[in-house]
Amino acid sequence: MITQDQFNAVVTRANLAPSIHNAQPARWRLRGDVIEVAASLAVVLPAADPSGAAIGLSCGAAVEGTVLALSEIGFGAQVSDVWDDADVHSWSGHRIAARIAVIGEGRLDPLAAQLARRFTWRGVFMDAPVRLFGWTREDCALVMDTPTRNWIAGLNDAASLGILRNRAFRQELLGWMRLERKHPRTPYDGLSLAALRIDRNIAKKVRLGFGPMWSLLDMFGRTKLLTAEAEVTMTAPVLACFHRPAAESAIDTGRAYLRFCLEVAQLDMAAWPMAALTDDVQAAQQIKEHLGIGADRKLVQVLRIGVPTGEQTPRARRPLAELIT
Ligand SMILES: Cc1cc2nc3c(=O)[nH]c(=O)nc-3n(C[C@H](O)[C@H](O)[C@H](O)COP(=O)(O)O)c2cc1C
Repeated sequence: MITQDQFNAVVTRANLAPSIHNAQPARWRLRGDVIEVAASLAVVLPAADPSGAAIGLSCGAAVEGTVLALSEIGFGAQVSDVWDDADVHSWSGHRIAARIAVIGEGRLDPLAAQLARRFTWRGVFMDAPVRLFGWTREDCALVMDTPTRNWIAGLNDAASLGILRNRAFRQELLGWMRLERKHPRTPYDGLSLAALRIDRNIAKKVRLGFGPMWSLLDMFGRTKLLTAEAEVTMTAPVLACFHRPAAESAIDTGRAYLRFCLEVAQLDMAAWPMAALTDDVQAAQQIKEHLGIGADRKLVQVLRIGVPTGEQTPRARRPLAELIT
């Protein structure tokens, strides 16, 4: 039987999983020997994630984080994915993602050790030969040649600019950015200046540029200065195109996504997603065709991968009281 203290520790560890905009939509509750994980319906991203797929993926990553954290304290786990049942009745204000039966005598999953080491790196990657030691995954195309990386980097900038032209998207993103000096949520969620790797001056420009100045800047073709990342993208020696079966549930996709990210961390590298490339349907289709990714697969995420040139970013995470109900 899992104790309340063990459950609390498992949730804290599992919530180290990545989530869109660091919104941390996953919530946990313990029912006997079953841990339920659900998406809080209070966390909605209508502009960035109208279908709810990215919230689902984030909850899937939290589910896998839970399984890994349980393995660290000797428990096994049996996961029932209930995301597609669209059950919003059994847990008020939530959409249940998975029920995890905690079973005794689990084997330690070595990837669990990477939970605290994985982080999103949004900066220049080290200019050194990449050491993958033969690492591959069936669900991941690793792009390392310069012309294809260049093409993807350009495609990302074009897709980002297109998406950021949507005012609702910009406002929603600004709502999760912690650009103000003393934003009360900075320690708990969203994107801090440290995580974004920008200083106060740039933060001011982003606030104005994504806000009231956007239309004017766009009229004079200056918004690229705010959004272009191709130069830094090209410092990443690997662009990873992570793809999963088209019909797979967002929870299974998220579980695989966390394991993929942890494998990157195990290689002493970090990843930086380019969600614009999958949000933009045409860009995603072009990449799939170029890399020969079949029609039966969905391109889930394209990520820059390499050795970071700086320290692990301090984490913003919700306190336990917000995660457990
Ligand atoms: C579905 C999804 C999409 C994401 N898209 C982006 C992105 O486009 N750009 C980015 O910088 N980070 C992106 N992230 C990373 C999150 O912002 C990050 O996981 C979160 O801020 C928590 O920080 P951590 O990964 O360092 O723990 C994405 C994460 C997920 C799960």
